Amino acid sequence: MKISILTLFPEMFDGFVSTSIIHRAIEKKIVEIEVINFRDYTLDKHKHVDDTPYGGGAGMLLTLQPIVDCLKTIKTEHSHVVLLTPAAKVYNQSVAKAYTYYDHLILICGHYEGFDARILNYVDECISIGDYVLTGGELASQIICDSVIRLLDGTIKTDSYENDSFQTGLLEYPQYTKPPVYDDLEVPEVLMSGHHENIRKWQLFKSLELTYTLRPDLLEKKELTKEMADMLEEIKKC
Ligand code: 6GU
Repeated sequence: MKISILTLFPEMFDGFVSTSIIHRAIEKKIVEIEVINFRDYTLDKHKHVDDTPYGGGAGMLLTLQPIVDCLKTIKTEHSHVVLLTPAAKVYNQSVAKAYTYYDHLILICGHYEGFDARILNYVDECISIGDYVLTGGELASQIICDSVIRLLDGTIKTDSYENDSFQTGLLEYPQYTKPPVYDDLEVPEVLMSGHHENIRKWQLFKSLELTYTLRPDLLEKKELTKEMADMLEEIKKC
């Protein structure tokens, strides 16, 4: 898979592409990340990429020409073009999974006060990463890249994400490692019992309990098995 990122601040990606799992995925040729400064495409003699909004208002808007010319150069029939903006549907794990099926993802990072709205004619989709406003789309694009790349074959072991929060529609159960007691805090006994069925039940119960407490909205969307529904009844009684 190839991911092209259009940004005015390519240096923000230096650490991202050279660290840890993302770096390894690039080395293993699972993903190629291309960071493009779309200022290089401006025809403005002063290299400007923004201008004042019609109708007035604070700040500057990104103009169409540099972004559209950049897209024309890099887009192929296999590209999926995503505009990063807080004024959009919210990104989640299902969108991440859907993006893994594209050969070429193009992410456009905005800055300043936003874009000329006619940019919508040149993109396939707009995405926000949540209900807050960032100074630019760069961090949003890194969040999207990270969450997509870890789902690509070969980046991490499949079972590392099979139990992920959201992948299952539930928050993930708590996990523990050595030592068995730290500062009087004990690892739940069942996890050290070696009894696989009891461990499975405990983990499912904890997943349901956490989800019910912290993200009840997820439970409304989830189809529950009889076992889950019974556990949930028990949780609700407490
Ligand atoms: Cl994608 N961009 C910006 N600038 N702010 C955001 C966002 C994106 N998603 C949430 N807030």
